Parts: sequence; structure tokens; C-alpha cells
Amino acid sequence: MHQSTDFPLSFKNSDVMPAFGLGTWKASGPEEVYRAVREAIRIGYRHIDCALRYENEDEVGRAINDAIAAGEVSRKDLWITTKLWNNAHQKDRVIPAIKESLNNLKLDYLDLYLIHWPVALRPEVIFPGKASEMLSLEEVPIIETWRGMEACVDEGLARHIGVSNFSIKKLEALLPQTRIKPEMNQVESHPYLQQQELFDFCRKNGLHFTAYSPLGSMDRPARLKRENEPIILENETILDIAKAHDASPAQVLIRWALQRGSAVIPKSSNPKRLQENYDARNIVLSPEDMYRIAGLERHHRYIHGEFWTMEGSPYSQATLWDE
Ligand code: A2P
Repeated sequence: MHQSTDFPLSFKNSDVMPAFGLGTWKASGPEEVYRAVREAIRIGYRHIDCALRYENEDEVGRAINDAIAAGEVSRKDLWITTKLWNNAHQKDRVIPAIKESLNNLKLDYLDLYLIHWPVALRPEVIFPGKASEMLSLEEVPIIETWRGMEACVDEGLARHIGVSNFSIKKLEALLPQTRIKPEMNQVESHPYLQQQELFDFCRKNGLHFTAYSPLGSMDRPARLKRENEPIILENETILDIAKAHDASPAQVLIRWALQRGSAVIPKSSNPKRLQENYDARNIVLSPEDMYRIAGLERHHRYIHGEFWTMEGSPYSQATLWDE
């Protein structure tokens, strides 16, 4: 188990990813995003998680490049991840898509490029309003998309490639067909949705695991919320453990993810919380704390992906999550 505060995750080519990173989903308003990324880098964040579909790569890229120009950090000390959107799953659309992200981010390579969802959309569609705007995985198989991802590595545009929102079943189908293996699966994970089986599968098969929405993403748009959702930041056990360590609940959630060997990308746009989240690396949870948190599992998703599973869609909740 890592006890150091840096939590390096090593890759086969000896690249090292800092397990703690900044999430940028929902960081909106150009100035807010810019300020959050500049502040995060000043605090010491070295891993930034982006996506074309967060509609803020441009501001994130401006902040990264200004921090580099100001001598606060060098490119090689940063780990930048971004993601391929669902409407570019056809093999020959992947390279143009990564180039668009690189152009937004003003970078010449990514550390990690991920397939954002195992879901395909028609090229002209960004978010589907109706089922006919979607394409099935029979029409655009994941392996076709993966060939495009492999080409990103071949062309030196991404150092590592991986997936997001993939189940064990989808990884099992993909892995034997790949020339370059996926090295990351980024999925929702927190004590209410620990994904232990998927976590163990990734470990065994050479993939790292990144936990998104580690704090429960309470700033999600209302249309992505359900009634009476449990609030993980208010869980009694988490509050109790936080109190014992003179820490905040968010810090316990972040440290729990790091201590189990996951990467974790809490989002904040607030300077005080950015610092607080960064300092979570320094708390050490006891085996009993870890055991108590393991007991909180209740298979609760905050992100259901209902935008892909409308009536008539080739995807259902059952086939999206394979459960
Ligand atoms: P804010 O950006 O105002 O700090 P997730 O990473 O699970 O998507 O959660 C992000 C949400 O959690 C945002 O609403 C963010 O608000 C909030 N948040 C981030 N850090 C903390 C913290 N340390 N304590 C409480 N809420 C936090």
C-alpha cells in the first residue's frame, strides 16, 4: 500500500502518472476554469483530467500554457488526460478528434487519451435528442474505435490510451483484439459504488483505474439527478472518520481512493477546496477506517448515463453497464 503523499502510478514504458488529479467536468465559465487550473498548478496539482465534451479544453489549455510560460511547471511534469467524444468513434475520425483536443489544449501530445463512453453517435450529433441519432456497437464496434486510438499512439499524439465507463464484459471482449493494450479505465467510484470487482479485473489485466465523481458530483445539472439521492459527503461513517483525523469528509473520500490504489480526480473551482483536496494526500487512514469504508458499498450510481438509454435507443441501462 502506498504511504507516500505522491501516489505514483507506473506504466510499462516507465511513465508515471500522479494518482491525484484535477477534474474539470462542470468547471464552467471561461474565467472560472482558467483560474481553477492556474490555482491548482500553483498548489502542486500535476494531473489534469479533461474531455472535449466538457466544452472547456480551450481555457484549460490556456491555463496550462500560461503556467508553463510563467515557469511554474514544465510540460513533462504534467499529466494531461482527455477523451474522445462518442460522435467520432469511426476509425478515421479518431485522429482528427485528438488533433482538435490537442489544438484546444495547445499541446503537442497527451499523456492519456480515453474513449469517453462505450456508446456511438452519428458524426453530426453531440448529444442525442432521439434514438435515431445514435449508432449501435454493431454499426461502430469498439475495436474499430480502438484501431483509431492505436493510431494516436503510433503518431506520437498520445503516450497512453484507455477507456472510460467500460465494464468487465466490454474489456474482456476488447483486450484480446488489441495491438496496443488499454492502460486505464476511468469510471465512477466512491464508497457507495466501489466497483471492487472491476478494480481487481483492471489490476489483473494491466489497467490502472481512475475514480470519477469521487465526491458524488453534487454540482451535476438537475436533469442528471434523481430524487432522494444519498449524499456521500454527509455519510455518518465518513463524517466520523473525518472527525477522528481532523479532516474534512471530502479529504477522507479522496484519501480512501488513493490508499486503495486508484487514481482520483475531484473537481473544484474554489481555491480553498482545491487546497483542501490536495492536502487529502497527507491523511493516513487506518486499516479499520478502510474496512469501515468498504462496508459502505451500496451500488449507488450518481451518473446513470440515461442520456444514452432513451426509448428505442440501441443501448439500455442493462447493456450500458452490463449489469
Ligand atoms: P466546488 O467546485 O465549488 O468546490 P466530484 O469531484 O465528485 O464531481 O464533485 C464535485 C463537487 O464537489 C463540486 O460541487 C465541488 O464544488 C464540490 N467539492 C469539491 N471539493 C470539495 C470539498 N473539499 N468539500 C466539499 N465539496 C467539494
